[in-house]
Amino acid sequence: MAERKAFEIFPQQESFMDSSPDRCRTCAVVGNSVNLLGSHYGPLIDFHDVIMRFNTARTVGYEGDVGNKTTLHIMYPESAVDLDDHTHLILFPFKIRDLEWLVSAFTTKSVTMTNKGLKSTVKANQGLRLILSSSCTQVKVLYPGFIQYVHENWLGKKGRYPSTGFMGVVLAMHICDEVSVFGFGADKDGNWRHYWEELRNKHYGTGPHGGGQEYKRILELAKRKKLNFYRGF
Ligand code: C5P
Repeated sequence: MAERKAFEIFPQQESFMDSSPDRCRTCAVVGNSVNLLGSHYGPLIDFHDVIMRFNTARTVGYEGDVGNKTTLHIMYPESAVDLDDHTHLILFPFKIRDLEWLVSAFTTKSVTMTNKGLKSTVKANQGLRLILSSSCTQVKVLYPGFIQYVHENWLGKKGRYPSTGFMGVVLAMHICDEVSVFGFGADKDGNWRHYWEELRNKHYGTGPHGGGQEYKRILELAKRKKLNFYRGF
């Protein structure tokens, strides 16, 4: 029901799957790893056509290391942040309530909880379309079955479910001609620490995700020259 409603509000339009011998769509997938600090990758990241960031990622104050452009910002309700008019919001729905939140966030603003309190609305330019759509439209929803597809086909079901970042890598492999991956990898203690904050839980590890497996898959893809991987520092 929620799924149908969301798909009604955000109708399918053109597809990212278009291809042309005349264009090469380069994409930077920027994870939130602390290994970006001191990397000076900023200008290199900003040089890409599409720059994908995740959840509460920030750029202000970190431009030299992470760049300042964002074209696709991927989030789920609990990690929602306001966006500027030039950034496309992509919702990765993990549960039906997430789709209900999206509909509500752009209509009644009545959904204020999923399994915890959250933003009842989010600022984003409201030309609404479904993934995998492109062009000038600003809000997209990832087909929910994509999560299962990534878990089964790309991770051999390791981890409870794929991380948002790893799904972004797979999404980029589907919609970009050339993929470069930045900001992925645990700190020296094995924790997924963010580049903008101190780690609160020193035993976080990689949370519910198979972080080791995800990292291994990225290295394999890099070795097979399917993507460029920038390890950071
Ligand atoms: O923590 P958050 O999910 O917002 O980070 C975005 C993505 O970046 C993660 O889903 C994960 O794939 C990746 N990440 C990482 N190593 C870190 C932090 C995040 O690979 N230290």
